[in-house]
Amino acid sequence: MAISVNPWRTAIANSYDTGIWVRGYDVVSLMQQKSFADIVFLLHQGRLPGENERRLIDAILVSVADHGSGAPSCATARLAASGNRQSLSAAVAAGILAIGDEHGGAGSACMEMIAAGLDLARTQSISIEDAAGRCIDDARKNGARLPGLGHRVHSKDPRTDVLFSMARDGGVAGDGIAFMRALESAAREKIKPLPINIDGALAAILHDLGFPPPFGKLVFIIGRVAGLTAEVAEEYMREKPMRIRIPVEYDGVPPREIE
Ligand SMILES: CC(C)(COP(=O)(O)OP(=O)(O)OC[C@H]1O[C@@H](n2cnc3c(N)ncnc32)[C@H](O)[C@@H]1OP(=O)(O)O)[C@@H](O)C(=O)NCCC(=O)NCCS
Repeated sequence: MAISVNPWRTAIANSYDTGIWVRGYDVVSLMQQKSFADIVFLLHQGRLPGENERRLIDAILVSVADHGSGAPSCATARLAASGNRQSLSAAVAAGILAIGDEHGGAGSACMEMIAAGLDLARTQSISIEDAAGRCIDDARKNGARLPGLGHRVHSKDPRTDVLFSMARDGGVAGDGIAFMRALESAAREKIKPLPINIDGALAAILHDLGFPPPFGKLVFIIGRVAGLTAEVAEEYMREKPMRIRIPVEYDGVPPREIE
């Protein structure tokens, strides 16, 4: 009896004996005429970006590529590379696994918050500033942290203003950026000065470019993989295996006998 197998369905890419096609474009033509940022946009949006859209995606990918070996994803990749010399892919994957809602992944939650805030402004016929103020009130009531605000290292994230100016100069700045600026002001008034961090900046821009929330985290992963590969390569080539032992202070019970 013949077994019927349902084929996977995809609208992204396909390959034949002599060709590879991405969203309907011949990869050979893309290789000659387009950049990596163009292809990231094409893969996720299904169309090639305009010049200003491409420049912003490119700038976002550059902005998140690395943030120092001590950043959670880079440190995790280095630890894995230090103890496991057999697998480059395992070390890079370990770094990716450290990316989450608090580190590098707040962009997705921030995009959801921006969409909900703008929806509130529309449906309640209130200003973006008032919607942002309510968002801060809700977070305070629930003891929640607002994604996209605050930073452990920077009192002002140097990447945010540059991305927002590029968006403004390129004519793609919209309500996403307006909402995050309003949120930053409301936080200063109601909580404390909290800078828009890179996750908040990229979330605002990706909202204005029409990306769905999951892309907020995914774009960080795409960009950070470049940095992780460099961190892992340096660990392999410059350092001895097993060189990392993190200083830990034990504060449990003192040594004792089994009774
Ligand atoms: C990035 C982050 C982890 C830094 O945390 P931190 O070093 O503890 O921050 P600070 O020492 O400056 O401030 C601590 C206090 O500020 C307030 N605060 C800091 N970030 C806040 C935020 N995003 N929303 C609301 N309040 C915040 C809180 O009152 C916090 O007090 P708590 O510890 O009692 O909750 C934090 O700002 C945060 O969780 N941000 C949201 C997640 C995010 O955007 N991550 C991406 C970082 S690039």
